[in-house]
Amino acid sequence: MRLNFRLGWHEFFAPDGYPFSLDHVEARDDTAGQVRFVSMLLPHPPARVVDLGSGNGRHARRLARLGYEVTAVDRFAQESTEYLACVAELDQLPLKDETFDGCISLYTSAGYGSNSMSSQFSEWLRVTRPAGTLVLDIANRGRRFRTAVDSFSSGRGFMWSVRVGGRRLQVNLALADRSATFFAFTYPEPRPHVLRKRLEECGWLVVDLYGDFDGSPLDRSTPRMIVRALRA
Ligand SMILES: C[S@@+](CC[C@H](N)C(=O)[O-])C[C@H]1O[C@@H](n2cnc3c(N)ncnc32)[C@H](O)[C@@H]1O
Repeated sequence: MRLNFRLGWHEFFAPDGYPFSLDHVEARDDTAGQVRFVSMLLPHPPARVVDLGSGNGRHARRLARLGYEVTAVDRFAQESTEYLACVAELDQLPLKDETFDGCISLYTSAGYGSNSMSSQFSEWLRVTRPAGTLVLDIANRGRRFRTAVDSFSSGRGFMWSVRVGGRRLQVNLALADRSATFFAFTYPEPRPHVLRKRLEECGWLVVDLYGDFDGSPLDRSTPRMIVRALRA
C-alpha cells in the first residue's frame, strides 16, 4: 500500500483531491432548496450575482436557471454554458469595482489557508455595488472533536477534526486503489459575534442571521450560520 500526504485546502479541493467530492455533496444535500432560500435573500433576477468559492457550480447554475446573471469564482472553477467561470483567488478578484448586485459564498468557502477572512470580505465589498447584498453561509461551531466516514466508488474515507481557538483543523484519510492518502488543512470557524465584527470592519452591515436554509433562527445548536449583509 502506498502512503501519500497532501497538505493545504487546495490539495483537498483539487479535481484529483479528496474523492468524496462536491458532486457527492450535491447528491446528498438539497441544493435546490438552498438556492430557493438564497434567492429570497438576494435582489430579484436578472440581478448580477457572483458565487465566491463556487466549487462544481451547483448553486451558480441553479441561480442562472432562475434568471440571474452569474459569475462563479473558484481556484478550481468549472466551465459552464450557464454562468461565467472565473479561476481566481478569493482575495484577488479579476473583476471591476461595483459590478455585482449580490455576492454569495456558501458551504464554508471563506478564509482558507493564508487568506484572512477580512481580506476576502474587503475584496468582495469592492466588486459589489452600493447597497448590494452578501449571503454568506458557514458551518456553525459544532462539537470540538468531530469524526465522519465517507463512501465513494473507489473506496472509503475517514475524517477527524478538532477546533482550536477560532479555527478547525481537519484531517481526512482516503483509502482507495491500494493507496492511503492523508489530507490536512485548516479553516476559520468563528463565533457569530466575531464573524459580524469582521464583516462590519470591512464595510458590510449585517441585517439577518439564520441557522439553516429553512430560515430558522441562529442559535448554538443550528448547523449553519447564514448571514445576509448589505454593502454599507
Ligand atoms: C467547501 S467548498 C464549497 C464549494 C461550493 N460553494 C459548494 O457549496 O458546493 C469550498 C470551495 O472554495 C474554494 N476556495 C476556497 N478558498 C479559496 C480561495 N482562497 N480562492 C479560490 N477558491 C477558494 C475551493 O476550491 C472549493 O471549491
